[in-house]
Amino acid sequence: VRIGDTWYRTIWPSDDGNAVEIIDQTLLPHRFEIVRLDTAAAAASAIDLMRVRGAPLIGATAAYGVCLALAGDPSDSNLERVLQLLAATRPTAVNLRWALRQLEGAVGGLAEAERAAAAWSTAARICDDDVAICRAIGEHGAQLLSAVSERKNAGVVNVLTHCNAGWLATVDWGTALAPVYLAHDAGIAVHVWVDETRPRNQGASLTAFELGAHGVPHTLIADNAGGHLMQHGLVDICLVGTDRTTAVGDVANKIGTYLKALAARDNGVPFYVALPSTTIDWEIEDGVSEIPIEQRPPEEVTRVRGLAGDGVLTEVEISPPGCAARNDAFDVTPARLITGLVTERGVCAASRQGLRALFPQDPAKPQEGAGGSRP
Ligand code: MRU
Repeated sequence: VRIGDTWYRTIWPSDDGNAVEIIDQTLLPHRFEIVRLDTAAAAASAIDLMRVRGAPLIGATAAYGVCLALAGDPSDSNLERVLQLLAATRPTAVNLRWALRQLEGAVGGLAEAERAAAAWSTAARICDDDVAICRAIGEHGAQLLSAVSERKNAGVVNVLTHCNAGWLATVDWGTALAPVYLAHDAGIAVHVWVDETRPRNQGASLTAFELGAHGVPHTLIADNAGGHLMQHGLVDICLVGTDRTTAVGDVANKIGTYLKALAARDNGVPFYVALPSTTIDWEIEDGVSEIPIEQRPPEEVTRVRGLAGDGVLTEVEISPPGCAARNDAFDVTPARLITGLVTERGVCAASRQGLRALFPQDPAKPQEGAGGSRP
């Protein structure tokens, strides 16, 4: 993505080859700061504190975390330690475990002296693949937007999205927003309704930031507004991302996604979920009972963070002192509410048959190499 005159990915190796650099997403949209991660602990902390977030980017950061650990100590015990450290950071996005399995598969059978180099090249491949996959998702999804545009005689296509599933959530392009960018660049009139996405407001801070940077018309809405807009014919299509997709097409995405899917069904609005195959967990079926839902600190609900009038980033309380709060970070939208899944191999039904027609074999299986225990 281009910010000003510079092209960025969301994560990249530092020039000296001893670290990786990220954009600190906790400071956006108010400050654009690049942070250097020198150690696996720093990578784990960046994921934990959500300096990087979004399922594919969490996976890419974890991959580089393994590289940073092995550069200092390529022993089996250190490999095992770092896999466990990184796996424990966030439980819902399956890309994290997928990326760690890729790294383990690539380096586990090698001599210690060869491990760090193999890890760096595997992490780089994961990032390059993610960019290509997201671009392909964009191409397939843009056709859906183009069809809506034709139906509306080139009228504005109103997309509703939740949370941030744009380039900031991936290495580049994004999943749900990749079709928007490609359609916009192709001259299709697209406008995005951006759910603010409480409690952390990734829609207000990140999606609005990146759509603005790309010049895509958008309007920020309160989380509760989507159903109302759908009732009034103001949403043509919902397009969201996913952190984990089950073998039958249930999806876990940022809390509030399920309510949008219900509203979409009640109003006949198509509800699509965009995903790289790295978010498919082929081992589970029932998302509601089987996907682990991350519980985050209650303070994210009782407080709001933003830029104060004096230009200082600050947090304010919005509830009475001591108010109990619960903070489930994700919810599950059952496949029956999903019109289609937009993948790098095309659009399919949210069902086992739909997914298997596109992915007869699990493309996420680790590369050939030594085994070892799964993180
Ligand atoms: O808690 P976050 O910000 O990591 O949640 C991100 C989302 O819910 C995204 O929609 C999801 O990761 C898909 S990103 C391509």
